[in-house]
Amino acid sequence: MISFNMKDKFIIEGLGNKRTLSGKIRVNGAKNAVLPVMASSVLFKDGFRIKNVPFIEDLNRLDEIFKGLKIEMNKESEGEYFIDTKKIESKEIDEEASKRMRASIIFSGPVLARFGELVFPHPGGCVIGARPIDLFLEGFEKMGATIDHHDEKYFLKTENGKLKGANIFFKIPSVTATETFIMAGVLAEGKTILKNVAMEPEIGSLIEWLNTCGAKIKGIGTPTLEIEGGGLLEAKDKVYETIPDRLETGSFLILGALCASDLEITHCNPNHLEIVIEALKDSGVDLEVGKDYIKVNNKNLKNYKAFNIKTHEYPGFPTDLQSPMTVFLTQAQGESFIFETIFEGRLNYISDLVKMGANIKMWDSHRVTVKGPTQIKGRELEGPDIRTGFAFVIAALVAEKESTISNVYYIDRGYEKIEKRLSNIGAEIKRKKE
Ligand code: EPU
Repeated sequence: MISFNMKDKFIIEGLGNKRTLSGKIRVNGAKNAVLPVMASSVLFKDGFRIKNVPFIEDLNRLDEIFKGLKIEMNKESEGEYFIDTKKIESKEIDEEASKRMRASIIFSGPVLARFGELVFPHPGGCVIGARPIDLFLEGFEKMGATIDHHDEKYFLKTENGKLKGANIFFKIPSVTATETFIMAGVLAEGKTILKNVAMEPEIGSLIEWLNTCGAKIKGIGTPTLEIEGGGLLEAKDKVYETIPDRLETGSFLILGALCASDLEITHCNPNHLEIVIEALKDSGVDLEVGKDYIKVNNKNLKNYKAFNIKTHEYPGFPTDLQSPMTVFLTQAQGESFIFETIFEGRLNYISDLVKMGANIKMWDSHRVTVKGPTQIKGRELEGPDIRTGFAFVIAALVAEKESTISNVYYIDRGYEKIEKRLSNIGAEIKRKKE
């Protein structure tokens, strides 16, 4: 439905540390909110409309999964889709889509809860480290499922076609595992208690949506959730409005701090990014924070101060903004210590920044020290995952001379038409089709 080429490249002309971008940039709906809400359609007896959906590559994966499950997704207008579940029947999650999008595992909860059976392959996705699924398998066993693993697929079955409510403590507060078991609990028999859950805003938004349509979930925004299982949900004519993408907002904020004279980031929710805003303000970035906008003002060019980052589940510093913020810190005065606590593969890009001229010492796969500021220089880069792909766009804009970023496919997975939106604020960025 959307055509993205795996081999596209971005050619970016660096600003050589001049802060010249200016204007307004609008934040889209959150990719990581759209995915669970679309997966929640499996819990419904009717269909529903979803608005403010970003036009990103992951929609193709969702379409493939929907086709396999016999769910229809129809585009009604820009950013608006109707999900029709009347013909839903299959219990198998599409193999190709699962390999390319780890989040496909979110479907496992609602499908197993609705049909009492499930077949899914081990999910793939971005290269940000080992992505185990033990929390999912352990949780389903607690809810009474039996699991078989052969031919590179998992086969799950329940007794009498129903999951049973259970008490599940997550050893790690995983975002997609929390979402999966919220949805499993909605159709399970009896009460499910989830402890040490993730508390990302996308999870709160999913809970609100499910409760609006008849689910009984208590504990929103806290580490313990209680779900009273029941029958299929009904949307009637309710519409889900996607919350603003906090990770896109943070990415634009960091870009603005380094490359803009004045930039207004609109249609965002600054409350979801407090730790990032505080860190940038403390460092010396001039920010005006409104209810749904943030203005970055760099007219009086300033030196920024270095600071440390330790990634943490929400509301701590998001792992997804660690790589863009590391680019920021290469331009700040002093030494910063960065500790990536969530994914061991999320510092793999450091060698590329070093080749651009950044002064970074890597201690191990989780920890680096950055000394700044350094003038970085353009070069050939390859986007390894969604967020680092965007961090490379920022680095290329900060650098002197031209950079080429290949593997733009990953950036397209999370950021809609990014070259067009950045060109609108004055960046020289072109897509080269291979
Ligand atoms: N983990 C396990 N076992 C499991 C599941 C997770 O050990 O069964 C570990 C992971 O290896 C990791 C930690 O738990 O060390 C947390 O990972 P989590 O499960 O929370 O990540 P996720 O749910 O797969 C979501 C986002 C990611 C984001 C992370 C962390 C979606 C669709 N994806 O992934 O977003 O980086 O949470 O906040 O919500 C992105 O948008 O680019 C992206 C990758």
